[in-house]
Amino acid sequence: MNVRVMNAAVAKTVAPDKPAAAAPAHIAATGLAVDFPLEGRKQRVLNDINIAVPKGSFVSLIGPSGCGKSTLLKVMAGLVTPSEGTMTVAGLSPQEAVNARLIGLVFQEATLLPWKNAIENAAFLLMTADETIKKSEAFDRAAAMLKLVGLDGAEKKSPSQLSGGMRQRVAIARALALDPEVLLMDEPFGALDAITREEMSECLLDIWERTNKTIVLVTHSIDEAVFLSREVHVMGTGPARIIETLPITVPHPRTEESYSDPAFTAAENRLRSLLIESHKKGRR
Ligand SMILES: Nc1ncnc2c1ncn2[C@@H]1O[C@H](COP(=O)(O)OP(=O)(O)OP(=O)(O)O)[C@@H](O)[C@H]1O
Ligand SMILES: [Mg+2]
Repeated sequence: MNVRVMNAAVAKTVAPDKPAAAAPAHIAATGLAVDFPLEGRKQRVLNDINIAVPKGSFVSLIGPSGCGKSTLLKVMAGLVTPSEGTMTVAGLSPQEAVNARLIGLVFQEATLLPWKNAIENAAFLLMTADETIKKSEAFDRAAAMLKLVGLDGAEKKSPSQLSGGMRQRVAIARALALDPEVLLMDEPFGALDAITREEMSECLLDIWERTNKTIVLVTHSIDEAVFLSREVHVMGTGPARIIETLPITVPHPRTEESYSDPAFTAAENRLRSLLIESHKKGRR
């Protein structure tokens, strides 16, 4: 189901063409470094990371496997503590932002509870985070989010009755039900086939346009990064740092035709050559 077409009649809440530079940084990293223990010593995994993600922006992190993309996302989510430098989300430490329910997380695996149906799964985090919320209110919110991700009608289905793409939509609805300001996504469509993946990209773009969330996406797909993002941060290895931040100037609203826009092709080519270079350096 094409969620963008389905939702086209609904007024959009943001003007996605407003310049990214006008908005203040919502997620900011300064001189950030992360060391992990390795065989009795320290291994520097991230070094001198400086990032400013404007509020309401959509940015992607792309780079060779093992370069530290997930680690950077985990620092934003308060799951990894930086060894040096600072990370703030909405002016707070990541842990404070998590406690204030400002951050939603989506990973490659949907990790739904198999004994709960779609709406129970979508309401689960909200009910855990807010013990005072009435069940009916949590379910209303979960139902609205399932609708937003194109899953109305599937509320009573169990995870085993849903496809991989549908399960991932439930995971996105579960994160959105918290109404976070920031959505952090680590290869959320990595396990899906190419066509489902494109559908999910359109679904995510639609959610972003309608909700004004700040979204950070880790992906290995150049196409996905260009189609969805305002900015792509390209990471290099040894230890990981940001080697280039590429603004994506493909006009909004983005549709299937965007893939053949000259700005799309130019961004794709630039990212491909940066990644090839980064891979070569990683092998040396
Ligand atoms: N908890 C940990 N303890 C020790 N080392 C870790 C830990 N987590 C990650 N690493 C190491 O940090 C480096 C970066 O890992 P990370 O998972 O962030 O890479 P990635 O860019 O997300 O890779 P991929 O694209 O394969 O998902 C790797 O060398 C990894 O082995
Ligand atoms: Mg990873």
